Amino acid sequence: MKTPYYSYDLGLLERTVQQLIFEAKNYNIHYAIKANTDERINKIIANYGLGADCVSGNEIKHAIKCGYNPNKIVFAGVGKTDEEIEIGLINDIGCFNVESMQEIKVINEIASKLNKKASIALRINPNVDVDTHQYIKTGINENKFGIAFENIIEAVQLIDACKSIELTGLHFHIGSQITNFRNFEFLANKVNYILNFLDERGIEIEHVNLGGGLGIDYENPIENSIPNFRGYFTVFRENIAIKPHQKVHFELGRSVVGQCGDLVTSVLFIKEGMSKKFAIVDAGMTDLIRPALYQANHLIVKSKGGTNPKEKYDIVGPICESSDQFSTNYLIEKLKRGDQLKIKSVGAYGQVMSSEYNLRKKPGVLYTNIPLELEETLTHSLHLN
Ligand code: LLP
Repeated sequence: MKTPYYSYDLGLLERTVQQLIFEAKNYNIHYAIKANTDERINKIIANYGLGADCVSGNEIKHAIKCGYNPNKIVFAGVGKTDEEIEIGLINDIGCFNVESMQEIKVINEIASKLNKKASIALRINPNVDVDTHQYIKTGINENKFGIAFENIIEAVQLIDACKSIELTGLHFHIGSQITNFRNFEFLANKVNYILNFLDERGIEIEHVNLGGGLGIDYENPIENSIPNFRGYFTVFRENIAIKPHQKVHFELGRSVVGQCGDLVTSVLFIKEGMSKKFAIVDAGMTDLIRPALYQANHLIVKSKGGTNPKEKYDIVGPICESSDQFSTNYLIEKLKRGDQLKIKSVGAYGQVMSSEYNLRKKPGVLYTNIPLELEETLTHSLHLN
């Protein structure tokens, strides 16, 4: 197949989802489809009965098309347009995660116009800092997300005064690629404090959505191909104090799909610079922007490894920007023109963030290790569309 292309291991995806469901037990999981919107991948996840976390009207439509149950769809985002709110209402989605006072009023107005009653979860900014890249922290005061704790009562009163919406839950999301579980412990403690605060004031909350954020192992993706779901849920089981009738939800993206994708690319040229050696490959930041945008390090391996001595390279793409590099001073077996490389752990926020900058074609897609029984159902359902 022509490089660059994304290669998805659907067998690993299935095992990951199975493990997730096993460890989540009575928790409700919504897959954050922004991480990877590939139809085949989403059909598999939806087939297991997971819900979807959507952040646009098109994601809602896509989720429904892929087979997610509309009432298991939650809709987040600081800037929902009127049209997107309508899409959510018309499709009777499970919940709107609401992020501002004005949004509360607008959802109420549109719901009333459509004769609908919308379930609302207030997204609270818990002001919990996390150990991750600053661009993917979302739960500290200076972030645009959520409503401050100080404004909760005002928001609850506003919802109470609106006839076409009802408050059902609280929503939190503190950031992404979090591997320090202490961060989640802090979140759980903040959530307990807020739930208690509301309970003391007679404000009933049916569900708590704790967002996503569980990180994956980018350094050892082969040894740790399935994330530590057990450790993650244990933190919440041990720390969150909910009442028996309250339901707990999560919105996991990266940890569900991250490890099942590789980006396969070919070495175009080896160039000896003045101070370094460059391996110029045919994939660029247009295919995978994470290294350029978040200085993310992805493991890079030769598709057909051998025993040649190793050398150091800057592995770079063809785009006319110096940020178009996958790794610097990367130690890898000696490379030559035509060698194929796999950039690992790109199943999440890889293909979905690709662009056509420089009028480049979007990367292709290959599916591997397709479980047999799945192949039949998927081929059948894909043909129906
Ligand atoms: N819920 C909300 C409200 C979110 O904003 C996100 C991700 C998730 C759930 C899923 O988080 P996850 O489980 O995947 O960490 N493009 C960046 C990541 C952006 C994350 C955006 N929000 C990257 O490539 O690292």
